[in-house]
Amino acid sequence: MADSTYKIQEEELIRSDIAEYLNRHETKDLLRLLTCGSVDDGKSTLIGRLLYDSHMIYEDQLEKVAKDSKIYGTTGEDFDPALLTDGLKAEREQGITIDVAYRYFSTDKRKFIIADCPGHEQYTRNMATGASTCNLAVILIDARYGVITQTKRHSFICSLLGIKHVIVAVNKMDLVDWSEEVFNRICADYNGFVARLNFADIHFIPMSALKGDNVVAHSAHLGWYDGPTFLHHLESVNIATDRNLIDMRFPVQYVLRPNLDFRGFSGTLASGVLRKGDAVASLPSRRESRVKAIHGPDGEVPEAFAPMAITVTLEDEIDVSRGNMLVPVRNLPHIGNEFEAMVVWMHEEAAKAGKSYLVKHTSNMVPGVLSSIRYKVDVNTMRRQGDAIAEAEPADGQGDEAELQLNEIGRCHLTLHRPIAFDAYERNRATGAFIIVDRLTNITVGAGMIIDRIVSKPGHRREPVSQHIVRSESLVSASDREELLGQKGATIWLTGLSGSGKSTVARQLEKQLMDLGHLCYILDGDNVRHGLNRDLGFSMEDRKENIRRVAEVAALMNDAGVIVITSFISPYISDRADAREVIGDESFIEVFIDTPIEVCEERDPKGLYKKARAGEIPQFTGISDPYEAPEEAELAIPTEELVPEEAAAMIIDDLKARGLIG
Ligand code: ADX
Repeated sequence: MADSTYKIQEEELIRSDIAEYLNRHETKDLLRLLTCGSVDDGKSTLIGRLLYDSHMIYEDQLEKVAKDSKIYGTTGEDFDPALLTDGLKAEREQGITIDVAYRYFSTDKRKFIIADCPGHEQYTRNMATGASTCNLAVILIDARYGVITQTKRHSFICSLLGIKHVIVAVNKMDLVDWSEEVFNRICADYNGFVARLNFADIHFIPMSALKGDNVVAHSAHLGWYDGPTFLHHLESVNIATDRNLIDMRFPVQYVLRPNLDFRGFSGTLASGVLRKGDAVASLPSRRESRVKAIHGPDGEVPEAFAPMAITVTLEDEIDVSRGNMLVPVRNLPHIGNEFEAMVVWMHEEAAKAGKSYLVKHTSNMVPGVLSSIRYKVDVNTMRRQGDAIAEAEPADGQGDEAELQLNEIGRCHLTLHRPIAFDAYERNRATGAFIIVDRLTNITVGAGMIIDRIVSKPGHRREPVSQHIVRSESLVSASDREELLGQKGATIWLTGLSGSGKSTVARQLEKQLMDLGHLCYILDGDNVRHGLNRDLGFSMEDRKENIRRVAEVAALMNDAGVIVITSFISPYISDRADAREVIGDESFIEVFIDTPIEVCEERDPKGLYKKARAGEIPQFTGISDPYEAPEEAELAIPTEELVPEEAAAMIIDDLKARGLIG
């Protein structure tokens, strides 16, 4: 078929039925590429030339497609907008404005999506958005100027975002007399600094986009170059091996339950291969089962590959819900509520160490805290930022930096409210990436790539100091004790301001549980601080250590089968999240004793508020020290509206509803 007829027919189809058009091309291999460089480097010329010379069809701005898919709303499931806007979808829903233009075109060998990021000052944010799903980056260099700071910056961001393939397009060769020597020098310069980055292959192509040399057709002027043309390389670069086929990860987007006999888990396979009969575990519960059947769009299939949209049924009735992840029993991701990540900040309002945000990771949205910004990365030099900046604003002892400004990149530590299942970004772009959302405005403010989990950090060590400490196993199991006592251990974690009524509610709860025949025990702040924790004060670190020890004690008592009621201010979200992790999500019931500070101050049972106001007690919670109220506590008790007996009864009802007590 003549190129032009092909083009007209395809254009017609794009106009009339974009979904069908995309469908038709689905079987062809898709290459996503990102162009980096400024207008002056000839970026638009190169793209224009590529499309024009190859008679390729394209829709100028994919904006339209994105809009269509939005209008389709939930029926968007049958037209896969992810095909075009995958990396962007989440951000779009979150209402961020990004200056990335997408162009789509295809040849008979491959289809392509070009993400074109303008090179102005918003570069980092735009690049991060455009590059997150790209396979290949085109780094444009003006032959007259060679490798400049911008070249390094773009290369660094591409490497950070996990792009494996690079074409260095040395453009405007006509302006340097098609000189092989100039070209070779640029290649050597580029190779000199790029060694530190993480690219699988780099290909250099001399060209003149304006004149069309080496874009689609070989150039007579560049006879000394015997490599492929730009288009030829785009059509042939091997990207098949980039996919992670090893680590099967299936985040569950929703649970399908059309009738009582069918319970399927739907979502998009993030990575790896899933086969009928595979042994899988659901995270975070770690319950295990086997794959009974896999349903694709056209019916049952024996196996599925990423990124297929599938519905999976399991052999056993294990509890799996939205936000859980199915993984191979023998290949688990990390499960935890803390990790380190490279974060690209995308909002005018700077990221602040210690501030809480929402973190969207796979199909989960979890509240968390940006606990610290360890250091910023200078994107121009690809190094840790120098002393001048490190000294600028000390971060209150929480990290080296207090803030991350728009377009800055920093290595950050995040602590989430609940554990999530994740991999390092380098290993898995789907389960290693997350976006950060502002809690009030619900706008995307940052994007992150997980580096790795932290196994230990000062004051919160999960592993013993010496590797020669080995656990000893008992002959009696937790379930033996459960049977003996007729109950399962759990921790009811009361949090709230001093004077909010924690101890009063704890005492009532203890009594009511006892009356129901349950063995329970109160761990109370003021009491524990007389013994086990008498060495601790009220600094942030001491409060953290206070909570850590209490959580460990509660976990032991739970293991012994006892129901523990803790009564500590525990003012920091991150400390409570740590306690939840130590005790275990299933046995940890966070109860917010919700009493406004004015009421606590008026009650002032120990006269401490009065003293704090007089400046006699430093770092007093609510007055001169923070209290971070829970956002997702299992229960909140408005003490102004209830007498202590009613508050305790409310907790008991909740425990019954959760099946923790009979
Ligand atoms: S926590 O912040 O580390 O969880 P915890 O619950 O153990 O605190 O202890 C709080 C109790 O210590 C309060 O009820 C109060 O009686 C007493 N207290 C003494 N100094 C302070 C202070 N600076 N801030 C809060 N509570 C204090």
